[in-house]
Amino acid sequence: MPTDNAAAWDRHSAAYQAGAQLPTDVAHYGPDIGTEAEFRLLGDLKGKRVLELGCGGAQCSIAFAKQGATAIGIDASAEQLAFAKRLCDREEVRVELRHGDLADLAFLRADSIDVAFSAYAFGFVEDLNRVFRQVHRVLKVGAPLVFSLPHPAYDMIDDDADQPLLVRRSYFDHSPIDYEWNGIQFTDYHHTVSDLYMGLVRASYRVDTILEPAPTHTGPRSQHWRETFRYVPRTLIVRARKEGS
Ligand SMILES: C[S@@+](CC[C@H](N)C(=O)[O-])C[C@H]1O[C@@H](n2cnc3c(N)ncnc32)[C@H](O)[C@@H]1O
Repeated sequence: MPTDNAAAWDRHSAAYQAGAQLPTDVAHYGPDIGTEAEFRLLGDLKGKRVLELGCGGAQCSIAFAKQGATAIGIDASAEQLAFAKRLCDREEVRVELRHGDLADLAFLRADSIDVAFSAYAFGFVEDLNRVFRQVHRVLKVGAPLVFSLPHPAYDMIDDDADQPLLVRRSYFDHSPIDYEWNGIQFTDYHHTVSDLYMGLVRASYRVDTILEPAPTHTGPRSQHWRETFRYVPRTLIVRARKEGS
């Protein structure tokens, strides 16, 4: 992760967590869409070793631990992890929290993880193929990597203006996306559906699920809500299983 994104998350953490108010009883995948309660991509986690990549405040890892999993969360932001530690203490749940880049998994043995999960962290990572290779090493054969990230079609949209819908970038433009959020600079990376699919296949995964969820119709909107969510998928969710090397 470039230093600026780690530093950006350190600066942004308090405001993000105050606004997001994420659940700790069920894993979430992104703003204004269903949760694991609807999508059911992870299976029964009781007794499983679950690795969360870019865990942030560890809300999903806490949910995994509550379901009987041994949860391990890794994140590059010390502030996000400090929030995670306080939340684990408050919820009286044990999660192993690691400070580091989500592609540096040398601390884990090969074939030792039952489920790898990531919500909205991979969009900050330029070299996802390296992540896929690292995660492949630590997963057991047949075990899933489940992740969500900004849908690459949404990267095209100017969501400051929702009427009319404006396309601001080419789908084929792979240059970094620099933007400001609450006065803090972040950089996202554009990964097309074929980049993700081919990267996973080359790293010896079998992709078995791709979801492009429409926004949920009920409940209060998140802090991220835009009218553009009604027209263009905001989130892409992928499940891929490790094949034998
Ligand atoms: C949008 S937040 C999502 C956090 C959490 N998954 C959630 O849903 O709230 C993105 C997180 O990814 C982390 N992150 C981004 N790139 C990373 C990297 N290369 N290595 C580790 N963590 C990273 C950030 O520090 C931040 O906590």
